[in-house]
Amino acid sequence: MVSSGWSARSELFEKWLKSWLFSESGIASLKRCQELIDYSLRAGSKRFRPVLMMTALEMMGKKVEETRNAAIAIECIHTYSLIHDDLPCMDDDDYRRGRLTSHKHFGEAQAVLAGDGLLTMAFELLGTMNPDISGPLVVELARASGINGMVAGQVLDMEQTGQAGGIEDLLNIHNRKTGALISASLAMAGIIAQVSPDDLDRLRVLGLKIGLIFQVQDDILDMVADPEKLGKSVGKDQEQGKLTYPSLLGLDGARAYLHTLTSEVRDDLSNCPWDTEELDSIVSYLVTREK
Ligand code: IPE
Ligand code: IPE
Ligand code: MG
Ligand code: MG
Ligand code: MG
Repeated sequence: MVSSGWSARSELFEKWLKSWLFSESGIASLKRCQELIDYSLRAGSKRFRPVLMMTALEMMGKKVEETRNAAIAIECIHTYSLIHDDLPCMDDDDYRRGRLTSHKHFGEAQAVLAGDGLLTMAFELLGTMNPDISGPLVVELARASGINGMVAGQVLDMEQTGQAGGIEDLLNIHNRKTGALISASLAMAGIIAQVSPDDLDRLRVLGLKIGLIFQVQDDILDMVADPEKLGKSVGKDQEQGKLTYPSLLGLDGARAYLHTLTSEVRDDLSNCPWDTEELDSIVSYLVTREK
């Protein structure tokens, strides 16, 4: 079950997204660009990264509104990564967020450009924030999404497809392709709340672990989920020879690993200097999620 805090925050995020998308600073004057971005960005997502950022900022005693631009920015980056991940030259998927993928709907060239547009807009959003924090936010998000983060993970994921690999290879892929952005969701909240460098590092490490839980469950769902509920195809990892936790440990082994990781994160949360009850309930949801 999704917690009520999650629902309230994701609803608020949807409002921000909609009002921003159709504002002067949001979508370009070109109608086609508006359609391309809106199609993927406003489709049925869990909004995990924005909700995590919003929850963390409130946990640190700040007003949720302060995350608005940063939350939209990280969702733009994530959505671009999905559009490109689904392209025929990558995972070649036809469904995403409960609808046809961008390239199936608009064609490949337009889908590549939709991703480029979302990537660029993310940094415009951060660049217009309070100058005290805007630079550090740009650096955090750029590092997490770029050639040491998500892009690097995707490069390794593609290289590894169809090849033999071990746990170390897989951890490296997952930490980069998924963990880095989830880690940035927490770290960006820390930057907005202007926490100490030690606490910022604590948030990064915690986010990386939560990211691993998230991706192990994504690997499991690819084997067992109902595609209708999931909003994307299932069974593709095995078909394409992806290195995943179930492919290395089996389904039961992957589930057991997920439980070990979850206990570890719970311990870490209990040692944090904040009231982490809401983050704890998000972690519980990650292990049971069906979407
Ligand atoms: C899917 O992310 C891609 C991964 C990193 C596993 P999500 O499961 O967060 O996708 P949406 O945003 O809810 O569509
Ligand atoms: C994708 O991982 C991660 C990124 C988009 C960066 P997957 O390829 O496993 O994600 P899904 O399963 O297609 O959502
Ligand atoms: Mg992929
Ligand atoms: Mg994929
Ligand atoms: Mg997957």
